[in-house]
Amino acid sequence: MIAVVRRVFRNRLVRAFSTGLTLTTAGVSVYFLHRNDYSLSSIGAVRFARAGIAVGRIATDYKWSLHGLDPDSKEYSTTMKQLHSRGAEKLLALARANGGVFIKVGQHIASLQYLLPDEYIKTLSVLHSRAPESKLDEVKRVVEESLNVPSCDDLFEFLDERPKGAASLAQVYEAKLIDTGERVAVKVQHPKVKPHSLIDIATMEFFVNIVDRLFPDFRLMWLVDEVKRNLPKELDFLNEADNADRVRRMFAHLPYLKIPKIYRKYCSDRVLTMEFCDGFQIDDIRAIEEHNFDKHDICQKIGTLFSEMIFVNGYIHCDPHPGNVLVNKNSEGELDIVLLDHGLYATLQDDFRINYTKLWLALLKPDRDLIKAYKG
Ligand SMILES: Nc1ncnc2c1ncn2[C@@H]1O[C@H](COP(=O)(O)OP(=O)(O)O)[C@@H](O)[C@H]1O
Ligand SMILES: *[C@@H]1O[C@H](CO)[C@@H](O)[C@H](O)[C@H]1NC(C)=O
Repeated sequence: MIAVVRRVFRNRLVRAFSTGLTLTTAGVSVYFLHRNDYSLSSIGAVRFARAGIAVGRIATDYKWSLHGLDPDSKEYSTTMKQLHSRGAEKLLALARANGGVFIKVGQHIASLQYLLPDEYIKTLSVLHSRAPESKLDEVKRVVEESLNVPSCDDLFEFLDERPKGAASLAQVYEAKLIDTGERVAVKVQHPKVKPHSLIDIATMEFFVNIVDRLFPDFRLMWLVDEVKRNLPKELDFLNEADNADRVRRMFAHLPYLKIPKIYRKYCSDRVLTMEFCDGFQIDDIRAIEEHNFDKHDICQKIGTLFSEMIFVNGYIHCDPHPGNVLVNKNSEGELDIVLLDHGLYATLQDDFRINYTKLWLALLKPDRDLIKAYKG
């Protein structure tokens, strides 16, 4: 009898606590919004509420499911695993529902293998391959508005219906320019990402702050800071166009490096039109072997490219995942490396770069030619 009463009482308490937290979250949210004078569209409020509910539910789940368990017991560790799985599923659902910036951050979280439990990494990794797509007519509207043309038919003789790649911020289409007949890749920003970005970042900052307080061990504020710093750059495709041109000039002496030529006439902050580059992803071993590409040659070229970025220029491509690094044979039968996605570069502090270079040179027991090559 007492046990039953206790269970009922506890369940009530759990419910009361979770309702309380949700209400508090909502109350604090309204206060926060009011204080910060955000003119939220109703959609922004919905995204905010979704985040609040997800965070509230995950937090209460952790707090209550672990309550009274001995941290050294087996039950504790199995419960913890189940909690991670449930938490990850809720975050995944939140990212899918809210889209844009939330997916970007979800992908970011999925790459923190060294920091977060496996359940989060595995569950959120699907965001890398299956980001929600914008519809073709939405995409066309972005191009038309942003490039100020009446219709995409005035620009492209052909525009593929299916995107080549869909990511959190944009998707890429193959197309053919009407005036020159050149084959291009057109990267188009999802229509709602930019208008939502300020509110979404503020939302995220708000809830990460709460989580930071509830679970002081987690420390995820740096993630928000990074998104805050980088996102405006990534959302300006003219910045990407500048980066691409800069890096192409920087590596003019590496003939095998292909960086797609930019068609400035057809670019804006939300549309990037560039040369279409064929190739196989660098991790596509089957294709590489089938076409008899020399793996040593590939390694040497990639090694030289990224070493020069780090040691010589101190200017580094920030997203070198396999989808952005392609290999192909050119018309002379030489192996080319294609580097895509120039949205984000990091600049190394000069004295750090030189120290780091010296460290590596010491490790390599270098000859004089090497030292001469890497000045500093
Ligand atoms: N110039 C290009 N030529 C051919 N395919 C491209 C080109 N640019 C992008 N793609 C394809 O589109 C995908 C996504 O492009 P990317 O610039 O990496 O977008 P995001 O920054 O959103 O990931 C790439 O993985 C590649 O398959
Ligand atoms: C580089 O090395 C110098 C000398 O050892 C040191 O004073 C300096 O702090 C180092 N700089 C960085 C960024 O590591």
